[in-house]
Amino acid sequence: MTSHKPIIVAIDGYSSCGKSTIAKSLAKYAGYTYVDTGAMYRATALYTIRKGWLHEGSIDEQALKEHIHEINIRFQPRPNGQGQDTYLNGENVEQAIRTLEVANGASRVSTLGFVRQEMVRQQQQMGEKKGIVMDGRDIGTVVFPHAELKLFLTASAEVRAQRRYLELQAKGENCNFNDVLSNVMERDYRDTHRAESPLRKAEDAIEIDNSQLTPEAQDELVKQLFLKKVQ
Ligand code: DC
Repeated sequence: MTSHKPIIVAIDGYSSCGKSTIAKSLAKYAGYTYVDTGAMYRATALYTIRKGWLHEGSIDEQALKEHIHEINIRFQPRPNGQGQDTYLNGENVEQAIRTLEVANGASRVSTLGFVRQEMVRQQQQMGEKKGIVMDGRDIGTVVFPHAELKLFLTASAEVRAQRRYLELQAKGENCNFNDVLSNVMERDYRDTHRAESPLRKAEDAIEIDNSQLTPEAQDELVKQLFLKKVQ
């Protein structure tokens, strides 16, 4: 695509809404960096679980707080050029962070103010030069309130659970649909009701309900919205 002044694209929405698919696709089209902020909260949860500080739903907040600055997260493109991996303190944790256990942990650690503060700091640093597509829950509201393009994705809980269920099955993870659906609903509740930066649509965000949209139609729609902003 033609050269333009780089912008920040903020994509927020519920879990399993296809945020990362659309964000990756737009980043590739625009030649932008893609940042998956959910992966950052997941990596933080994995770190906490491995330390034994997140156990049966209770978190040792004090221990995590003392070590929060030891958590270093970065993204690195795969050598084959197909996507990127998440690294936690130098270790590739891309697969380890995609389990239901870690998803639940991420939903918990992300309620803590000091965790969010540290993640937001790292995210703002990543977007300093713009030319970035970042997805998450608070990107258009907290991380980049002045982002030039803000999208807010939604889809029904059943559609999202079905997508997540198929994804987990494809990865060989043993699960049943009702568990996945209740997990999606629990996470929606926590994401929208937490005291710190709850998920909400920024006033100037464009809402896209993709329950009935094909990935191709959504891709085209987002591409057009992006072009309108940069042309
Ligand atoms: O998008 P995801 O499922 O990978 O996100 C994992 C968890 O992290 C999810 O429960 C919400 C939380 N999260 C957040 O609080 N803020 C973000 N910017 C991104 C994710």
